[in-house]
Amino acid sequence: MVYILGIESSCDDTAAAVTKDDLILSNVTANQEVHKSFGGVVPELASRAHQQNIVPVIQAAIQRANISKNQLSAIAFTRGPGLLGSLLVGISFAKAFALGLRIPIIETDHLQAHILVHFLRDGSTMKSPPSFPFLCLTVSGGHTQIVLVKDYFEMRVIGQTIDDAAGEAFDKSAKIMGLPYPGGPMIDRYAKDGNPAAFRFSKPNIPGLDFSFSGLKTSILYFLRDRLKEDPDFMEKNKADLCASIQYTIVNILIQKIKMASQQTGIKEIAIAGGVSANTGLRTALENMQETGSWNVFIPKLEYATDNAAMIAITGYLKFLKKDFTDHSATPYARSGM
Ligand code: KG4
Ligand code: ZN
Repeated sequence: MVYILGIESSCDDTAAAVTKDDLILSNVTANQEVHKSFGGVVPELASRAHQQNIVPVIQAAIQRANISKNQLSAIAFTRGPGLLGSLLVGISFAKAFALGLRIPIIETDHLQAHILVHFLRDGSTMKSPPSFPFLCLTVSGGHTQIVLVKDYFEMRVIGQTIDDAAGEAFDKSAKIMGLPYPGGPMIDRYAKDGNPAAFRFSKPNIPGLDFSFSGLKTSILYFLRDRLKEDPDFMEKNKADLCASIQYTIVNILIQKIKMASQQTGIKEIAIAGGVSANTGLRTALENMQETGSWNVFIPKLEYATDNAAMIAITGYLKFLKKDFTDHSATPYARSGM
């Protein structure tokens, strides 16, 4: 039996989880409220909040797993990409705790972990994991990638954004509308009562499997500026329709590219991962692909879509099987190694 403690601290969530082999035993996340009034994540404040949260979060994860810390086989942590100060808190804690327990540490890549969460066994999930090779659309606050996953640790990025990430497109659109940070979940919530065909925004014309979202933001900005000149209450009156239309446009761009990737590679196994995979519109669009086409789709449960440590623990377990341990000289990296 392998027990892994996973620690995730790359951005503004302090998270810890425990797995027993590939089965999740506990999954604890502390969100940082401190950033709300700034309209975005403030790195210095994030590091400080991690420092305050990390001990209680890890304690809770071990307690809820109903094991003793002495049963842990290894500690997995996010080495990058992310905010350096935030990553340092998780990494330093992992090293110190592992030294005390005389167990190995295992580094994980945040983006790989988002994908590998599909191999986590959760008591309530019946569907078996994707089979290799599969395509994964990884959509988060910092990344938008189509990844060809040949094996657990054999991944190739075959398409990515040339400017903003999909999560940024949601967050920046929300900011233009005066919605609080993070805007993605807010847009999702208002979109439920809106008409996705109410407004049309220009779609990017990027060849191949790459994405671009910065033009959409500008298109929304100019559209609203013109409408607000005619009616200062336009935004308030049309909030739901605006959110539904923005969401529809972003989801459409994502789905179009993943279908193109499927056509080019002949791969019909399609997974989504990352914070934006929590979006209702994207989840429904993917379910529709399965119902109306020959695709087999994999949608993570909500708690495994946004940042979490369960994905770090399962990645740690898969590396543990290969005895792929990390030296204590490891330092964080800010940019993706994928
Ligand atoms: O993966 P994640 O939790 O953190 C990063 O690694 O970046 O992704 C965060 C992103 C944010 O941009 C947030 O607005 C977006 O995911 N997000 C959503 C939803 N939930 C989170 N976007 C749209 N709809 C949602 N329901
Ligand atoms: Zn993430």
